[in-house]
Amino acid sequence: MSEKTMFKLQLPTDPRWANVAEGNLEEILTDHAWCEQKAASNAITLITMIPEYEEIVTELLEIAQEELDHFQQVHAIIKERGYKFGQARKDDYVNELMKFIPKGLSRTQFIVERMLFAAMIEARSCERFKVLSDNIKDQELADFYRELMISEANHYTAFIGYAKRLMDPEKVKARWEEWLAYEASIIKSYGKEERIHG
Ligand SMILES: [Fe+2]
Ligand SMILES: [Fe+2]
Repeated sequence: MSEKTMFKLQLPTDPRWANVAEGNLEEILTDHAWCEQKAASNAITLITMIPEYEEIVTELLEIAQEELDHFQQVHAIIKERGYKFGQARKDDYVNELMKFIPKGLSRTQFIVERMLFAAMIEARSCERFKVLSDNIKDQELADFYRELMISEANHYTAFIGYAKRLMDPEKVKARWEEWLAYEASIIKSYGKEERIHG
């Protein structure tokens, strides 16, 4: 199954990005570790927004723990390889995605947007992990990224599912199409740097 049919992402990542990433593993692993930290933090933030949705909170707690586990795994690889774990990198891609959330929404609309924002990052991250896994020569990391790819694909589905529990699923579906189109318009300028979303 291609990345495109997996997520309906409109633009696939050029596989040459994986070579750029492999050229600086210390940098990509540091950036990746912080992506996992942000994913864990984001899941916790979402919990603070919807405490009354018991089931969603229960699932978000699991996601937060999984992301923290990913963070720990990437950090362990950085240590094992003797790399330096640097400061958090800024993520221009994620910042640009965030701008797509309109101002002045109702509480429910805002939470739905935050779920779609999270789903978008999961979808593209998963696609990036697949491109890494398919293209890098480092076998340990290729296997590692294949495992993470599966986990992030499940997160993507979960976030879309939460949005559909909060609002008319047809409306969510239509809005998701708009997110995909917006994402395609910004991802064009990426794919050149040794960053997970770079
Ligand atoms: Fe993760
Ligand atoms: Fe994730």
